[in-house]
Amino acid sequence: MRPSERQLRAQLAFFHDFIRVQADLGDPYAKVLSVPESPYPHFEEIRARGLLHQSSIGAWVTADHGLANQILRDRRFGVRKAGGEKLPEFIGFDNSLLGADPPDHTRLRRIAAPTLNPRMAEGWRSRIQEICDQLIDDLLAEDGPFDLMTAFAQRLPVALIADLVGIPDRCRDDFHRISRRMTPLLEGVVTYDQTQSTEAAIREITELLVDVIAQRKADPQDDMITRLLALVDEGSMSMTELVPMATFVPLAGSETTVNLIGNGVLALLNHPEQWRLLVERPELAAGVAEETLRFDPPVQQYRRIVHERLELAGCTLPVDAELAVMVGGANRDPKVFPDPNTFDITRSVGADTLAFSAGIHYCMGASLAKLEAEVAFQALATRIPRLRRAGRIRRGSSFIIRGMAEFPVAAR
Ligand code: HEM
Repeated sequence: MRPSERQLRAQLAFFHDFIRVQADLGDPYAKVLSVPESPYPHFEEIRARGLLHQSSIGAWVTADHGLANQILRDRRFGVRKAGGEKLPEFIGFDNSLLGADPPDHTRLRRIAAPTLNPRMAEGWRSRIQEICDQLIDDLLAEDGPFDLMTAFAQRLPVALIADLVGIPDRCRDDFHRISRRMTPLLEGVVTYDQTQSTEAAIREITELLVDVIAQRKADPQDDMITRLLALVDEGSMSMTELVPMATFVPLAGSETTVNLIGNGVLALLNHPEQWRLLVERPELAAGVAEETLRFDPPVQQYRRIVHERLELAGCTLPVDAELAVMVGGANRDPKVFPDPNTFDITRSVGADTLAFSAGIHYCMGASLAKLEAEVAFQALATRIPRLRRAGRIRRGSSFIIRGMAEFPVAAR
């Protein structure tokens, strides 16, 4: 049964108070959940407690790269309870890939694969370049400082996803505005007002997509909605799954990429020698994307649920126990990355970053996201070589997605 407003407010207040108390008592996971300016020292505290430990919040926590990698690939862990029930969340968003275990997950993934696969990413390069060039032209036309997040980082991924999904030009502003309001679905809800605004956004995006789907039926194009409609026609997916899928992809692919771009530029400007290196050698832009995904990943932690009683790293975990895999910590595990707290765009990170997860939920947009970030970093370094910070940043309030709400910079 759906909780009333009073119950929901009370649950959220209890959740915040409980975390605050546990953080004050010294629990490192509770400190991470309190969204400090930097969670990285707390990941080290987590690692110092051993490969795996139970936080006073209840979840079993690891920041060890080897163990994190093993958990993500081990089919004895799922994203729902062992009996298939969804975890209690403050807002419901059904039928998403991230909230499904096999066999539903396997089927949904197959449905999304023709649109989202590593091969298709490269085909988007020239469009990404075109969007970046246009955004930078607009920035340079204005005098004075600007907010990198709203003027650039948020614009590129949303414009690209709109192309990929098949949102017509006339709906793009609405699509952008509604997509921004849906981000708490990915970030984790923290206030009652967010639940209201996010639920309204889900209703609005559904209306928008129903309208676009009707248009695509009449006038098929080379986009995700048209491809999904063909699957509905041949009976391999239902109409009730189409809207959630077309909603989930923008959700998964926007705020994440926005913050990869933002976090990367922040790391570069905080390490001026690395920015100068990129300006001199723009071909290092792909390395900036890789190193940012390791050093300051947009998605900081993944949740997994134990599906059968098991022994892990010397601990006995009961069915339905919850695991918090701290990727922000695993990516700075000194056993895998020498000198892990150094931001070095010439480092070879390779397959070791867990920033896109691993195993069956490995990000389907990883190649596209890396390409977007690469083109964005290269375009900024070549066209705005004097880019610099121009004020205090304001961080977002999520403990899952790490990024900035405001990032003032100046071009000259
Ligand atoms: C820097 C940008 C991105 C990051 C850091 C990121 C990260 C992730 C992570 C960590 C997961 C799995 C979470 C888990 O295992 O619990 C995931 C799943 C997913 N991502 Fe991304 N993502 C990014 C961009 C994108 C883009 C651009 C798209 C699509 C256009 C996308 C589509 C998806 C999809 C469909 C899934 C679900 C896969 C599944 O559950 O099987 N992502 N992403």
